[in-house]
Amino acid sequence: MQAWLIDKLGSITNLHLGEIPEPAPGPHEVVLRMIYAALNPADRYLAEGQYPARPQFPHVLGRDGVGRVMAVGAAVTRWRIGDTAVILRGPVGVTAPGTFSRLTAVSADSLTDVPPGWSLEQAAGAALTYMTAWQSLTQWGGLHIPQDPLFAADAAATPEESAKRPAVVLVTGASGGVGVAAVQLASAMEYTVAAFSRSPEKRRALLDLGAAVVLDPADSQWRKVLLQKLDGRRVDLVVDNIGGPQFTELLDVMAAWGKISVVGRLAGPVPNLNTASLFFRRLRIGGVAVGDYSRPQAAAVWQNALALLAKTGQRPQIDRIFEFSELPAAFDRLAAGPLGKVLLRVGA
Ligand SMILES: NC(=O)c1ccc[n+]([C@@H]2O[C@H](COP(=O)([O-])OP(=O)(O)OC[C@H]3O[C@@H](n4cnc5c(N)ncnc54)[C@H](OP(=O)(O)O)[C@@H]3O)[C@@H](O)[C@H]2O)c1
Repeated sequence: MQAWLIDKLGSITNLHLGEIPEPAPGPHEVVLRMIYAALNPADRYLAEGQYPARPQFPHVLGRDGVGRVMAVGAAVTRWRIGDTAVILRGPVGVTAPGTFSRLTAVSADSLTDVPPGWSLEQAAGAALTYMTAWQSLTQWGGLHIPQDPLFAADAAATPEESAKRPAVVLVTGASGGVGVAAVQLASAMEYTVAAFSRSPEKRRALLDLGAAVVLDPADSQWRKVLLQKLDGRRVDLVVDNIGGPQFTELLDVMAAWGKISVVGRLAGPVPNLNTASLFFRRLRIGGVAVGDYSRPQAAAVWQNALALLAKTGQRPQIDRIFEFSELPAAFDRLAAGPLGKVLLRVGA
């Protein structure tokens, strides 16, 4: 069968279309005939050897997707041939062959149904990004400032006033897969959402997706603009997809006890981080790792994310769908900065 292969680590440009044997399902697996696969920056990182996983070669990338069940293992009772299934998470595309392939074997407990009312396209690329966004928004518990008597800024608010104030969430790289998911989920959680995008067009779209304030990271005055728009409030949580030089600027707009969920580093390492900038407002920085979710946890988190999206009626955003033969162009599109997810049409 046809699959996009990498033969060694090095570069995403090593991808080539080749033939590999069709997978047979293990006892607890099903084989999906892929309909859509979704791209993630982690595919490129893995191809470049920047990711801890060391798969067998040739390897097939692609972690997300939707497909039709065409074979089931002997111990599988939940899925039948002909069912349509979405991949939630697991080793697919990491240490096991992924979804940029006509057929993919997946553990049956890593699969879920297409959410009611969603298109196959919407379902194909949502799992990794919405679970990541969920973790980045919830890993700290509540976002409100604890009533610490040492803290002058906090002493101004009574506990009741503090609890009523909607927390402010700032999302960097907000137009990407994780960013859109974080904007939608945070606004469904009734936080005030501020969102960064380099593109005026995408900034406008982010307002429709739930952002209350949109910002251009290239504007040297962005901190002033944000604080004016927040009318005395500051940022309680940053969901940072970008890293790079702007990371240290984010610290300037944080509220007391503010948190930063570090999701990605698309703009590279953070230069000149002075840890003293964390002292006085008692800021916290913490990594996000969606791969840490066990399969049952992933299933529960997915349901939580779906319930929030149902509350606001928001759906995953599709940037563009490429044909199976166009995977390299699809990766170029991802690198250029999409609005939502970039998909690959694998089959019917
Ligand atoms: N920790 C985890 O568990 C986890 C899970 C999933 C993803 N991630 C990581 O999170 C990051 C975001 O993933 P994603 O799927 O949302 O990526 P994506 O779909 O490629 O979107 C990222 C967005 O960031 C902006 N951007 C891209 N490069 C940039 C740069 N050099 N400087 C400033 N902005 C830039 C672009 O928005 P504009 O063009 O609109 O500015 C782009 O749309 C990636 O690094 C990914 O590897 C981590």
